[in-house]
Amino acid sequence: MRIDILSLFPEMFNNVFNESIIKRAKELGKVDINIVNFRDFTNDPHNKVDDTPYGGGAGMVLTPQPIFDCVKSLRKDNSLVILLTPDGEVYKQSRAYELSHKEHIILICGHYEGFDERIRSICDMELSIGDYVLTGGEMAAMVIVDSVTRLLPGVITEESHLNDSFSGKLLDYPTYTKPRVYEGMEVPEVLLSGDHKKIAEYRYQESLKKTLERRPDLLDKE
Ligand SMILES: C[S@@+](CC[C@H](N)C(=O)[O-])C[C@H]1O[C@@H](n2cnc3c(N)ncnc32)[C@H](O)[C@@H]1O
Repeated sequence: MRIDILSLFPEMFNNVFNESIIKRAKELGKVDINIVNFRDFTNDPHNKVDDTPYGGGAGMVLTPQPIFDCVKSLRKDNSLVILLTPDGEVYKQSRAYELSHKEHIILICGHYEGFDERIRSICDMELSIGDYVLTGGEMAAMVIVDSVTRLLPGVITEESHLNDSFSGKLLDYPTYTKPRVYEGMEVPEVLLSGDHKKIAEYRYQESLKKTLERRPDLLDKE
C-alpha cells in the first residue's frame, strides 16, 4: 500500500512513522509512506497557501490551488483521496479494515481555520477522528495510518487484531501475564487450566459482560 500525506508540517511525522509497528511495516515493504508539503505546489510569488476568508471572520483559510495541483500530481486510477475534517464521517475500525484493502490513499491535512470549501470537490471521502477540533489534520493522519498499517497482511498476526475491540461486536477480553499473583490479585483459575474450550468460553463471556457494561450500543451493530 502507498500512502501520501499532504501537510504543511512534514516534520511532525518523523518520530511516529519511524518507531514500532509502522517502522517495521515500512521495512517489510508493506507500506510506503510519503509526506508531501503542498506549499511546494503554490503558484503564489510569496509562497502563500492561505488567505483571509471571504465575508470576514477569524483566521486564515487554505487556498484551493496548491492542494488541487498537489493532488493532481499524485492521483492515479486506484487512488482514494481523503480529506481530514472535524465535520467528516467519524472514523471507525470498520473503515480502517476497508482502507487496509486500498492500494493508494491520499490524506489531506487542513490547518489554520480550515480549507476553502471547493477542496471537498476533489475528495472521495471525508473523515473525522472524533468530535473535537485539532489544530491540524496531522494527528488525524497519524491515527489513520497507524490503525490501517497494523491491519495489512503480515504486519502483525491476524489473530491479534481479529479479537481486538471493534473488530466484531464485542470489546476485547481481559488479558493477564506473569506473575500469577500480584499485590493480592490472582489470575483467574481457568486461564491456568490448559482447557482451551473452557478458556474460549470464559473469554467470550468476559467480552460480552464488558461490552454490556461499557458499550451496549456495539451489540446492535449490523
Ligand atoms: C482548527 S481545524 C479547523 C476547524 C474548522 N474551523 C471547523 O470547526 O470545522 C484545522 C484542521 O485540522 C484538522 N482537524 C481538526 N479536527 C479534526 C478532527 N476531529 N478530525 C480530523 N481532522 C481534524 C482538519 O484538517 C481541519 O481543517
